[in-house]
Amino acid sequence: MLTPSLRERDFPSLQEMTYLNTAAEGIPPRAVLEALQQYGDDKLLGFEGRALHEAQWDAAKERLAAFYGLSPDEVGICSSSSEAYNLAALALRLKAGDEVIVSDLDFPAGATPWLLPERAATVKVWRSRAGALHIDDLIPLLNARTRFLNVSLVSFLNGFKLPLRETIEAVRKYSPALIGVDVTQALGRIPIDLCDVDLIISSTHKWLLASHGGGLVGIPKSCADDVTVPAGGWFNMRDPFGADRFDRPVTNLPGAAGFTVGMPNYAAVYCIAAALEYIAGVGVEAIDESTQPLMEACMNGLRKLPVEIITPDDPASWAGILAFRHDDADRIAAALREKNVHIMSHAGRLRVSIHGYNTMQDIEVLLRGLHDACV
Ligand SMILES: Cc1ncc(COP(=O)(O)O)c(C=O)c1O
Repeated sequence: MLTPSLRERDFPSLQEMTYLNTAAEGIPPRAVLEALQQYGDDKLLGFEGRALHEAQWDAAKERLAAFYGLSPDEVGICSSSSEAYNLAALALRLKAGDEVIVSDLDFPAGATPWLLPERAATVKVWRSRAGALHIDDLIPLLNARTRFLNVSLVSFLNGFKLPLRETIEAVRKYSPALIGVDVTQALGRIPIDLCDVDLIISSTHKWLLASHGGGLVGIPKSCADDVTVPAGGWFNMRDPFGADRFDRPVTNLPGAAGFTVGMPNYAAVYCIAAALEYIAGVGVEAIDESTQPLMEACMNGLRKLPVEIITPDDPASWAGILAFRHDDADRIAAALREKNVHIMSHAGRLRVSIHGYNTMQDIEVLLRGLHDACV
């Protein structure tokens, strides 16, 4: 996918290390670092730079809309997935008797806003079996009171890729719920079809290869009025500076526009615009295709080691993450780190992430290091 010379040009730090931890932190390409520098240059213009910032905002939204399969006025940018989920939870104005479903493969950002003691709704958990979520287990949780279902398209925990179409079909059949999908561990890594999703949320510092400080929100026009965030601010308001502003109730913008409450994080926005352009230029399909042999080689190697693999066996449920348990996880991660091999040891498991900038040599170095550390 990336020729060796492009890899060296765009990701020079990868010449020095075996980096398999993109699910935690992506390595930004040179174009993203240049965009950050451009932000600095534009900011030095003071207020004259504002129009340049706004042009980047428009570019980021237009490119994001193409990734989400929406139009630019159906997407918004806030500061993190957690912020986006908290605002979404306010927008739903849940009442006693309402029900929300989260899954046990969700990252806390998408699950905890519904579990706060002050939220009136009852939360049900769609529990995985052998690392996979099964539609048969979801159906009994759905009913006429279900207001919202949150799922991760790809789980941060074990990399399980959800059968999204079947999930949406079940929700539409058995409940009136809105469907929220966290695509943080998928966006930029695998082709995604988000048609008929009501709320799309992603962080920006992982597979997308942008900076921290971004939360990417998508809400189709058809349900924008059902997701109007009741928050003060100005960027999220209709006519916040009108002469009559203290004599009438404030009006929030509906849908994705309501998720940016104040001045956008333009430094992140420059990076997001550049990263989306970079990933689109390389091509998500090309990334996914070129990494499939690496995923298979890595899984085959893991199967020969004394570890408990927690990613389901079926390659159809993989994206870019493979995860496994070992009693000595931290020691193993530290032994790899000594050899400049970077994986994640966290949340009770070891996690390997494989992106388009990885090579078969990275997998071989990892498997040799794991063999030395575990056997
Ligand atoms: C699926 C998923 N969602 C969200 C996040 C991060 O959320 P935030 O942008 O609020 O830090 C992570 C981080 O690992 C994640 O894996």
